[in-house]
Amino acid sequence: MKIAVLPGDGIGTEIVAEAVKVLQVLDLQFEMETADVGGVAYDRHGHPLPEATLKLAKEADAVLFGAVGDWKYDKLERQFRPEQAILGLRRNLGLFANFRPAICYEQLTHASSLKPELVSGLDILIIRELTGDIYFGQPRGRRASPDGAFAGAEEAFDTMRYTRPEIERIAHVAFQAARKRSKRVTSVDKANVLETFQFWKDVVTEVGQQYPDVKLDHMYVDNAAMQLVKQPKAFDVVVTGNMFGDILSDEAAMLTGSIGMLPSASLNASSQGLYEPSHGSAPDIAGKGIANPLATILSAAMMLRFSLNQPHAADRIESAVKDVLAQGLRTADIWSEGTRKVGTREMGDAVVAAITKKTITK
Ligand code: IPM
Ligand code: MN
Repeated sequence: MKIAVLPGDGIGTEIVAEAVKVLQVLDLQFEMETADVGGVAYDRHGHPLPEATLKLAKEADAVLFGAVGDWKYDKLERQFRPEQAILGLRRNLGLFANFRPAICYEQLTHASSLKPELVSGLDILIIRELTGDIYFGQPRGRRASPDGAFAGAEEAFDTMRYTRPEIERIAHVAFQAARKRSKRVTSVDKANVLETFQFWKDVVTEVGQQYPDVKLDHMYVDNAAMQLVKQPKAFDVVVTGNMFGDILSDEAAMLTGSIGMLPSASLNASSQGLYEPSHGSAPDIAGKGIANPLATILSAAMMLRFSLNQPHAADRIESAVKDVLAQGLRTADIWSEGTRKVGTREMGDAVVAAITKKTITK
């Protein structure tokens, strides 16, 4: 099992180090190799996704990714910005299926900005299409406006587009995921305005006919944004396009009160995957040793389950994380009165301890 370890920028190095530590106590044989990605890669090699890093990622069974980005790169030409690294990995590895679970852990119910009764027990899964839509559609660019009221003026444009096979494959992913859960899928679109998303809705509906045991409904994205804060527990599996999924998954993450807890997986057709926390590089707290490593540790668990075929090891990590929360250990982002504030490393150590203790007593 070969894992490409790409820590990236900001808190990336600190949180990935804890996840690696956890992987190392599982008594499994991994080959792990680390490479630069994002802003640090630009600084050291002149590109956010150097050839060698891409090659390593392609050859690995899975990629464990930290985070990329820092304000200091905002002025760079787009192709050199840290975000291009993650977009390039998604495109080059064909990672079209993005799983973003939003789970409200029992002990953290009060960290949510919503009333506890609205989020207690929340467990939804956002499935975001990751390699199409307006993110990658061509043409895009800047030019003199060819027509309209402002003809001749400078303008910028992007292209929203989806092909039938792209929609079909993500729809299958969603229906299959729903079969393992409560057998409900909400497809989010903007079919009332956009041709791309009328097509999306039609194709998802067609694919749904192959899954008569799964209940499919459709929701416009604006309404979905509202329902997510009104009655989030009404959702189970949500499937949507790249851009709506970007926005709704941040909203859903915040419902749980703790973006520092949420892992994510991005898979391609051969189950090769990239695993990263749902949060970003948090340059404001980088190097301070206070970042929450649990989202990355839980991402490593998803990696074991989805790409490395080690569901038992994944269970062990997930149950260890619940143990440390039950012990009252909290990093600053999830700390509340009456719990014990710990740093990044101490949290990682506690997860390791919870895993090894269980192994011994078994
Ligand atoms: C995400 C991020 C990325 C995205 C950025 C960093 C390119 O916001 O993974 O959600 O927009 O997809
Ligand atoms: Mn995002």
